[in-house]
Amino acid sequence: MSLKIPKVLTMDSFNFNNKYVLVRIDINSPINTESKIILDDARFREHAKTIRELIEEKACITLISHQGRPGDPDFTSLNGHAELLSSILGVEVRFIDDICGPAAREAIRRLNPSEVLLLENVRFHSEELLERKPELQAKTYLVSKLTPLFNYFILDAFATAHRSQPSIVGFPLTLKSCAGRIMEAEIEALRKIYGEEGGKVFILGGSKVHDSVKIIENLLVNNVADKILLTGLLALVFLYAKDARLDSKVIEVIKEKGLMGEIPKAREILRKYGEYIKTPVDGAVEVDGRRVEGDIESLRGRIMDIGAKTINLYREEISGANTIIIRGPAGVIEKDEFRIGSEGIVKAAIESGAYIIFGGGHMRAVVDNTTASFHGHMSTGGGALLTFLSGEPLPGLEALAISAQKYLNSL
Ligand code: 3PG
Repeated sequence: MSLKIPKVLTMDSFNFNNKYVLVRIDINSPINTESKIILDDARFREHAKTIRELIEEKACITLISHQGRPGDPDFTSLNGHAELLSSILGVEVRFIDDICGPAAREAIRRLNPSEVLLLENVRFHSEELLERKPELQAKTYLVSKLTPLFNYFILDAFATAHRSQPSIVGFPLTLKSCAGRIMEAEIEALRKIYGEEGGKVFILGGSKVHDSVKIIENLLVNNVADKILLTGLLALVFLYAKDARLDSKVIEVIKEKGLMGEIPKAREILRKYGEYIKTPVDGAVEVDGRRVEGDIESLRGRIMDIGAKTINLYREEISGANTIIIRGPAGVIEKDEFRIGSEGIVKAAIESGAYIIFGGGHMRAVVDNTTASFHGHMSTGGGALLTFLSGEPLPGLEALAISAQKYLNSL
């Protein structure tokens, strides 16, 4: 299957000197939900490349991003993000606790060349949660209030490009727009590996189960994956769908997370493509603060990681793969003793000699802990990466392509 990447403009297309530029970044990061400390600064460091370039070009820079989702414990203000970004850039990043109201608009107008302003979490604004067509998002209050203040829009949030939300797909229809440096680099890296022949094995875990079930279906329908090895909560949902005799505590977790609706979908995927999907044979639970491993059906309590047998099984499954794509941790990596499964998967992938693509913030943290270097690509995206690799369009890229068409003649 060939990958259709829409033609978009890059930062080389515009002169940003003295211009007002709105940049959609994605600094959504793992956060300690009690102390609110940001646990991983990888996305900040990546976006720093785009922002530094704009500072050097003497643009008046406004950044817009999200953190978490309403109802989740990591759904917080971006105040701390501004501080962290300031220290990484070595330049003050001002923060305003407003998104498109009078205070934000005034702060944007007052920006001088090379100054940087970060707006409040855009998901505090309810319109941002609606996923709709770019034409409708271009008419939202958010987009119509901010558009008149800017000359250009840069979409650098590759990791959110799979969301058809106003801050991603609305502005490209109202402003001359281009891809930022992260977006450009990600597309380039993925374009290179996409066309390569040979086995592609996906190792998918983590907790974003709703998104992942859909992506698994696309990977298989579009004939992209040779094999999909499941870990984490995602694996437990598929084990349930396979009628594995799971402990009541595990079923409780699936219910608590609102995932019962995914079971029929998982069953349908298994019915059609079961031979391509592998689930763990063992796991680990916590007993008196210690890790205890056992076979999936014999374990009592919440399963918090995959076990040694599964790591070995998956090691065999990936031998011979040309490309391995790993997204989402295999267990509760916040606890050292349940990080073993994720680290085991990373080591097995490296030993296989295949080209590895890691996606999602949590895996980056595991990789940083496990190895100094590897042969492959570390993507800033999780869901966006997999949507892209599954051959499905990324709404953010599509919107940039519409923008390029619309404004090309007036450049
Ligand atoms: C991510 O971390 O995958 C992106 O920031 C997108 O977040 P979302 O899944 O909440 O839209």
